[in-house]
Amino acid sequence: MVNNILYNDQIVKRDHVVEIEDRGYQFGDGIYEVIGVYDGEPLLMDEHMRRLERSAREIRLDLPAETDKLKKQLQELVQVNGLEEGIIYLQVSRGVAPRLHEFPSANTKAVTVAYTREEPRETDLEDNGGTAVLTEDIRWLRCDIKTLNLLPNVLAKQKAVENNAIEAILHRGDTVTEASASNVFIVKDGKLYTHPADNYILNGITRQKILQLCDELGLKVYEETYTVDDLLNADEVFISATKTDIAPILKVDDKTIGNGMPGDVTKQLVRAFRSLYEKKKA
Ligand code: PDD
Repeated sequence: MVNNILYNDQIVKRDHVVEIEDRGYQFGDGIYEVIGVYDGEPLLMDEHMRRLERSAREIRLDLPAETDKLKKQLQELVQVNGLEEGIIYLQVSRGVAPRLHEFPSANTKAVTVAYTREEPRETDLEDNGGTAVLTEDIRWLRCDIKTLNLLPNVLAKQKAVENNAIEAILHRGDTVTEASASNVFIVKDGKLYTHPADNYILNGITRQKILQLCDELGLKVYEETYTVDDLLNADEVFISATKTDIAPILKVDDKTIGNGMPGDVTKQLVRAFRSLYEKKKA
């Protein structure tokens, strides 16, 4: 039973109650990370810590501890919970203070919470893929920050689930941005395209790793915007996110992608991504 959490500086039992004036709870005033754990080892932890630091800077939140220390505490949490396969959820809110929109007084400390959750590897999804729906991207203009404000993402994902799809792919007008909780890649004539890492998308850690793997595999990848039409007429489409890693998308709304089967480029990347943590095990 994964029953311990990190609460500020301490690992305690998971019977902690949320303070009603925690700004994360009231305003979504905070940031978070989700880190994959494979065979008891967090994957790409340093990259997640760097993104956390960036998110904190962008919303002017003082992290209560150095991320090096946080990293060790998260590793300890994984150990005491005996987590083999799953995720670490980490969030830092701007703290507990009387509910006023502006920042609280300088002596209000950010609140850090982390817990682990067992989740099996999504090998079936990686191998066989799923379908997606399209929906308008109604989020704010700082999607590059991993903040707790996820209501548009929640609504989009719900639409996917109600349509038996695994994801909702978002578009601003004609431009595909990303998905409700993942990044989107398309493949056309052997070349990959994904939205540039600007303020319209979260620069996924998985996305960044895929770009690196493409480079190593000699696959041409363009960080360029593409349209809904390009998506629907792509040879292959896949999404990427922590723990899902890479999932082929075989159909978007009513349009079958390519021949309706996971494509060769996607399969190659699924294999390459797997070897990142399988290599560690060996
Ligand atoms: N979501 N884009 C959005 C909007 C996301 O929420 C996520 C991840 C990603 C992929 O990022 P990464 O590869 O770093 O996981 C892209 C996490 C998993 C979540 O909110 O649960």
